Amino acid sequence: MPLVTTTEMFKKAYDGGYAVGAFNVNNMEIVQGITEAAREVNAPLILQVSKGARAYANHTYLVKLVEAATIECPNIPIALHLDHGPDFETCKSCVDGGFTSVMIDASSKPFAENIEITKKVVEYAHDHGVVVEAELGTLAGVEDEVKVSAEDSSYTHPEEVEEFVAKTGCDSLAIAIGTSHGAYKFTAAQCTRNEKGILVPPPLRFDVLEEVSKRLPGFPIVLHGSSSVPQEYVKMINENGGKMPDAVGIPEEQLRKAATLSVCKINIDSDLRLAMTGTIRQFFNEHPDKFDPREYLKPARANIKELVKHKLIDVLGCAGKA
Ligand code: G3H
Ligand code: 13P
Ligand code: ZN
Repeated sequence: MPLVTTTEMFKKAYDGGYAVGAFNVNNMEIVQGITEAAREVNAPLILQVSKGARAYANHTYLVKLVEAATIECPNIPIALHLDHGPDFETCKSCVDGGFTSVMIDASSKPFAENIEITKKVVEYAHDHGVVVEAELGTLAGVEDEVKVSAEDSSYTHPEEVEEFVAKTGCDSLAIAIGTSHGAYKFTAAQCTRNEKGILVPPPLRFDVLEEVSKRLPGFPIVLHGSSSVPQEYVKMINENGGKMPDAVGIPEEQLRKAATLSVCKINIDSDLRLAMTGTIRQFFNEHPDKFDPREYLKPARANIKELVKHKLIDVLGCAGKA
């Protein structure tokens, strides 16, 4: 089937108590690993492209890779989404260039300015049959080379969400409840350590999520920064020449709980990067004589696929929902 918007996906996810996975794509192997997983478990899918991905791989290549996936996976709905659109022009370029969903991220701007920019994107996108995700609140972490420190991050204020959604007309809303971008989501000082010495992050603010949902009944909520930073891949990286001490993510049980509530889209990127990097590092360590990219990208793609299957089945709960 052709690319779809997220409208129907989110309605079914909200009513069904699960979330759709939104995975970032930057090259063919990542697209293949994700879509083969979704096809096998029959899950709806959002493939998302950041400003950095467009700069790296080129808009047209990414659109055509995702279109290829729709041909290879004809039975699952796939949406093509712009992740963290920084301005109107980038969103317009993606609306004009075949995306079915865009995010305008003006969350770092003052409230009134965020509304103004988001509204302008919504008007253009809706005129062209494209849906819009907006954001209120600021996540900590690194995204597109912009680093937000924990002190500068801020939880979403629930008392702002009704006015924001009513005035902008956005179709979904990303909120800040304690998730964070990247592989180092929390400093050691923000965490406690369990008996194995592994860092345990502070729990997500489900009270904020519940208050937002109460004010926006039936409205799809989005969580960014939701990688869990699998420790087996951190270990694989560290045992094969890498250096990622104290990388820590969001516990999967908390994401599972969010998915049963009003959260309809959960963004996962760093986990896939860790799987790919760990696998390739291990491959080179074990086969220092090899130099054919197909030989090291094949196991990396296979591990992305296994990881995505696990997320779809055990974390998002969207397997079988295509
Ligand atoms: O939230 C950001 C995503 O992980 C995309 O990262 O900007 O490095 O492509 P990127
Ligand atoms: P992670 O860095 O936790 O994978 O978050 C990805 C994300 O939010 C993309 O927008
Ligand atoms: Zn994000």
